[in-house]
Amino acid sequence: MDRVTASVEHVEVAVTDLHLGMYVSELDIPWLESPFLFQGFVIESNEQLQQLKEVCRKVKVDMRRSGERPVTDWEHVEEEDYEVAVEHELRAANGVRHSAHLLIQNIFRQIERGKGIDGDAVRAAVNDTVSSVMRNPDALVLLTQIKNKDNYTAEHCMNVSVLTAAFARFLDKPRQEIEEAAYCALLHDIGKIRVPDAVLNKRGRFNREELVLMQSHTERGRDVLLASPSVLKTAVDVALAHHERIDGAGYPYALPREVIPYYARLVAVTDAYDAITSARCYQGARSSFDALQLMYKDRDTQFEASLVERYIEFMGVYPPGSIVEMSNGEVGIVLSVYPRYKLEPRVLLVLNRYKEPTQERIVDLRHNAVDSTGHPYRIESTHANGSLGIDVRHYLKKGLSQSGVFGAEPSVSWRAEACSSHRPASDADF
Ligand SMILES: [Fe+2]
Repeated sequence: MDRVTASVEHVEVAVTDLHLGMYVSELDIPWLESPFLFQGFVIESNEQLQQLKEVCRKVKVDMRRSGERPVTDWEHVEEEDYEVAVEHELRAANGVRHSAHLLIQNIFRQIERGKGIDGDAVRAAVNDTVSSVMRNPDALVLLTQIKNKDNYTAEHCMNVSVLTAAFARFLDKPRQEIEEAAYCALLHDIGKIRVPDAVLNKRGRFNREELVLMQSHTERGRDVLLASPSVLKTAVDVALAHHERIDGAGYPYALPREVIPYYARLVAVTDAYDAITSARCYQGARSSFDALQLMYKDRDTQFEASLVERYIEFMGVYPPGSIVEMSNGEVGIVLSVYPRYKLEPRVLLVLNRYKEPTQERIVDLRHNAVDSTGHPYRIESTHANGSLGIDVRHYLKKGLSQSGVFGAEPSVSWRAEACSSHRPASDADF
């Protein structure tokens, strides 16, 4: 075999030397530009071999997963551990989210009454959000997957704030900057309160007048925030500039890149991600993978390329809350992700191979979980939130009401419920 270079467990191999059964862990082109859905996969067909030869010159093969395991202390590589496990953070995160929701609703009411925003209350809510994100970002990120179409603007503001905090944490920003970024994100779309609902919720294309009204939410946001002296001035800038584009074709001022504030460039990324993965009155929710792919295409035009690239790295292929289908047809929800092993998350299985509700259980792909036939679980594809009738909120609610289950070890049963529907009994708490 013509190995180009050899590292610990990943070996660079010329595509002409690949054969069936090898686990390809890395391509020599960006994975989003390749025909392969995932960066890590076993070569199972000659067609895949041919595809690899057509698009790559060399790839990295994970020998450990290809059955040619070298002697290595790889298993002892330290994994970054969060302060608490996602199961233990979820309850606190749910409380944080609930408080932030009440705050946003209160802000909307105050603005409608012509009153100002209490900047200190915003700071306190953001502080709680960031504390949860610092303990374990997966819990709040998981809750961003709970979407409620009727309350889109409020939820979108909360989600963008959480995603911004978690992303800033990933970027290793100091806590003060994480809080400031999350604060700006929470208020970025506040100007929408001044845009008529008929325009906000329109299903078809905007006419010229409606488009101008919709885009005016940036300047209206600036005006609303400027009228509240206790609000952070950076938030005013972000409300005004989060739709500016790196190529200078954004609105409201078509600013060139160097003039767009950093937090506005950051929030532009998290804003787009949450919008694309949410179901709207005019379009359905897209999967996380689709969202990242769309954003990657717009790097250097709409978004700052380096931020999009880091965001893709941050989210990984299976962010918490993703609906994933296994190679054996079973379907589950990603609960948490190992920071260094993002292709091997912990998954709550909820549907059997016939896509029927089944007794829920947690499987840990990082620790070689196998199905009833003894085959290792492997993720085959992802689905958009709400697909296959799965409502993530239903299962989270069930988990939260079963502290014993959330506190239990992986692979124990997630108590089954005599219920054939995936719909939640009520929307309370979410
Ligand atoms: Fe916006």
